Amino acid sequence: MSKQLRSTVTSKNMGATIKRLVKYFTYYKGLFIFGILFTIVGSLGGIVFNTMLSPIIDMLTTNYSLAVFIRYLAIMVFVTLFAAAGQYLGSLFMGRLAQNIIHKIHEEMFVHMETLPMNFFDTHAQGELMSTFTNDVDILNQALEQSVAQILTSIITITGTFIMMLMISVYLTAMILGMLVFVFIAVRFIGKKSTRNFRRQQSQLSIMNGYIAEMMTGQKVIKVFNHEDETIEQFKEQNEALRQSSTDATTFSVMIMPIMGSLSFVAYSLAAMLGGFLVVGGMMSVGNIAAFLQFVRSFFNPITQVSNQLNTILAALAGAERIFALLDELSEVDHGEVKLVTHEDKKYWQLPNGELKALEGAITFEDVNFGYVEDKLVLKNINLYAKPGQKIAFVGSTGAGKTTITNLINRFYEINDGNILYDGIKLNEISKFDIRSTLSMVLQDVNLFEGTIKENIRYGRLDASDEDVIEAAKLANADYFIRTLPDGYDTVLTVNGDNLSQGERQLLSIARAAIANPTILILDEATSSVDTRTEKLIAKGMDKLMKGRTTFVIAHRLSTVRDANAIMVLEQGEIIERGDHDVLMDLKGRYYDLNVGTIILE
Ligand SMILES: Nc1ncnc2c1ncn2[C@@H]1O[C@H](COP(=O)(O)OP(=O)(O)OP(=O)(O)O)[C@@H](O)[C@H]1O
Ligand SMILES: [Mg+2]
Repeated sequence: MSKQLRSTVTSKNMGATIKRLVKYFTYYKGLFIFGILFTIVGSLGGIVFNTMLSPIIDMLTTNYSLAVFIRYLAIMVFVTLFAAAGQYLGSLFMGRLAQNIIHKIHEEMFVHMETLPMNFFDTHAQGELMSTFTNDVDILNQALEQSVAQILTSIITITGTFIMMLMISVYLTAMILGMLVFVFIAVRFIGKKSTRNFRRQQSQLSIMNGYIAEMMTGQKVIKVFNHEDETIEQFKEQNEALRQSSTDATTFSVMIMPIMGSLSFVAYSLAAMLGGFLVVGGMMSVGNIAAFLQFVRSFFNPITQVSNQLNTILAALAGAERIFALLDELSEVDHGEVKLVTHEDKKYWQLPNGELKALEGAITFEDVNFGYVEDKLVLKNINLYAKPGQKIAFVGSTGAGKTTITNLINRFYEINDGNILYDGIKLNEISKFDIRSTLSMVLQDVNLFEGTIKENIRYGRLDASDEDVIEAAKLANADYFIRTLPDGYDTVLTVNGDNLSQGERQLLSIARAAIANPTILILDEATSSVDTRTEKLIAKGMDKLMKGRTTFVIAHRLSTVRDANAIMVLEQGEIIERGDHDVLMDLKGRYYDLNVGTIILE
């Protein structure tokens, strides 16, 4: 089960989330200020109308005058136009603001994701991450585009209305304030109940998306094992869990509308009755009470409308929490200060004190201990020394830790104890970027990207010319098959190069490694799963590629291992035998068994 992007559930978090969201508004001060300004203009229209009710009615009921009537009419037309323009511009600016914020958040998320360490991706499912990029951002977008403007309008209307009500009658306003206490109690109760459920809804949605993504990529396996029914069953369970959490989430949030509705009716009737008494007692005019009643409407309306958007707002906050949880994931640490520099076409390591050391490609492991997770060591006490240009091979049963060793040379993971030295410099003192720029990997699990063959090979070194690409392909023995394709080097690959055979993909990945001209080369089981002819092609390509480079090779076949300068036999994370082929065969130990007992011996 993968970890979820989820922070602990407290109401303090919600405050922190809102605060953090507000910070994004301040990045676009112009849009924000104009947005608020025009929204205020737009909202004031309503207040002005209601205010005018009182003098108009009083004029109509007491001393009627056509001239005054027309003047009022003109003012109203003007106010209407003004308010409409304000509303339009307000929404326009607020919409732009929301789009800019979402644009920024998207970018921050992607940029941050690129800085995350390998173990983040080990522990988080791809589909679930995808869900944060899509659903969580979408719902936040919706809230920002609609709810924020709505909330703003509401706050302005409520404040303005409140002031006008106070001016008409303090008593009646006090009564309305009393009603507000009930509103707050209801909102607090419902908000508390719903927040947890909306969090559950967003997280369940991401779990389901993770499942869908996994099932999409696993179609072949599902079909061949006839697991369609089980897959559907499991999906139904997830879907049901999502329905359940969404239902729970809305159960409380839909209560808010009727509660607000009834409260506003009660307030309206109370104001009408009390107002009636005040009018009879001569303390208020008919116009006053008519305007006041209209204000009561205007006062409760926005509260009801905002409450109505509670669903979107709470779901968006839950989404924002998950987005921020992703942004708060710790980036890969890199304190490496040693940099790679070039002098007269030769590369050097530049130490912090300015001293230069030639880049040679020597790798040393000193008592290295490492585990992917706490309390479980995968590599124990590893010692090895690869001189520049040497070929070091790792053999051993599955899960012994061979790939893990190569993951450490790349600095994909940080070691628990011991030291890894690169040309005598501690690996964690060298900048990751520079380590990786001297390394190439050819993995069994080839990853190609959507694009042409040329682009995929050039991925190894972006400034390579077309000639370099062809040369690298020739070195990798890939040139021949590429030329037989209708579009040659411009053939477009689908995602992950699925329109090529596995052997062809492997040849391309060798070409991609070759073009980078690395000092250190890592080959992980690159020759398995292809036919003998292709294997020979690959082997030849690799031989050419390995020349003059320090190479770490993990292979199950003798041909790739036999001529290694040193062979390390790994078992359960420990090197149990080491030496060259002849020494190890003479030893008649694990290596000998592996050779005699399996297809490794050819
Ligand atoms: N990302 C990971 N997170 C946690 N544990 C892992 C991870 N990758 C590998 N392991 C564990 O580390 C151990 C060594 O794995 P490794 O991939 O190094 O084996 P290997 O020798 O390359 O095996 P194979 O020959 O099958 O490729 C295994 O027990 C494996 O379960
Ligand atoms: Mg492996």
